[in-house]
Amino acid sequence: MKTEIPTIPTPDDAVLWHDERLYLADQRLLPERAEFLPLDQAPAVADAIRAMVVRGAPAIGVAAAYGVVLAARAAHAAAGAGWKAAIEPDLERLADSRPTAVNLFWAIRRMRTRIEELDRSDPTSALLSEARSIHDEDRAANRRIGELGAELIEGPTDIMTHCNAGALATGGYGTALGVVRSAFAAGKVRRVFADETRPWMQGSRLTAWELMQDGIPVTLQADGAAASLMATGTVGWVIVGSDRIAGNGDVANKIGTYGLAVLAKFHGIKFMVAAPTSTLDMQIASGAEIPIEERDPDELLGCGGRRLAPTDCVARNPVFDVTPAALVDAIVTERGVVRNPTPEKMRGLLAATGEMNGL
Ligand code: MRU
Repeated sequence: MKTEIPTIPTPDDAVLWHDERLYLADQRLLPERAEFLPLDQAPAVADAIRAMVVRGAPAIGVAAAYGVVLAARAAHAAAGAGWKAAIEPDLERLADSRPTAVNLFWAIRRMRTRIEELDRSDPTSALLSEARSIHDEDRAANRRIGELGAELIEGPTDIMTHCNAGALATGGYGTALGVVRSAFAAGKVRRVFADETRPWMQGSRLTAWELMQDGIPVTLQADGAAASLMATGTVGWVIVGSDRIAGNGDVANKIGTYGLAVLAKFHGIKFMVAAPTSTLDMQIASGAEIPIEERDPDELLGCGGRRLAPTDCVARNPVFDVTPAALVDAIVTERGVVRNPTPEKMRGLLAATGEMNGL
């Protein structure tokens, strides 16, 4: 039977379960081509996460949850009642795909909890329903983050953002760009300045594309142009997403975020981190414990498929950095806002609902 590959109607549908397969909008090709990559095996999902077909912490978590569904289906087909043992290599491979975004491990842990509750019969539909819940809850969390974040902004103002924390990076709507979307709808955003985000260019490839699709005024700038724009006084907030937030409010995000936070402090500009509580890692006390992914130096040594640096040039390519909590004005989650984060305030955010992600 031939399966028809769906088209990508909006950035909101970048991760899609359709006709018993997972479809990922291939973010390596955007904005030139909007194409889905169909996947029906968990190892292929792990490879797609590693290769940045799907990227952005919450989207990685959602994709991995669907990957667990594919793993369970294959394990049951191969081992019948013994599927719980047979699934393990695929779960490990998924968990091994990228190290920094904690949403990946959060999603796999949540799927494991559901696995423990199941009997030895075919787990596919029960796990699919759990993966769909993770996806739906992330979309809903982003809407709420958007509302709460927008309330903090006194507009109209210019916003600066880094990397892509939009619909493409999440289950839909976006975290940092969710705040931008809500604030723009409320008339509080004049223009978004998007850093191009060397070396992978998430700002040029993805953020500019997403915002232009929504008719939100966006200007792309070189990463090195941030300070000079801040000095003009038009930017009210820097708004970014996060890959992992430690128990004291230290924030891991795309390389360059830390520098922006230092610059924002110097210029008296507010710094907001928008992230769902699935990005909190309360098991670690500070950002010093966050594993920072180092990717292939080749990503840095050239651009657009053309080698720029001299042959044998040595390069370092850490793709995340840690912004100390002291530089963060507000962490906005779906459960509430933490201003000037401290360990006590971070614990308080989750304690209010009786949940301590990971504790
Ligand atoms: O390497 P990437 O593209 O996966 O990095 C993504 C980021 O750093 C995002 O800002 C972060 O994951 C938040 S996405 C809502």
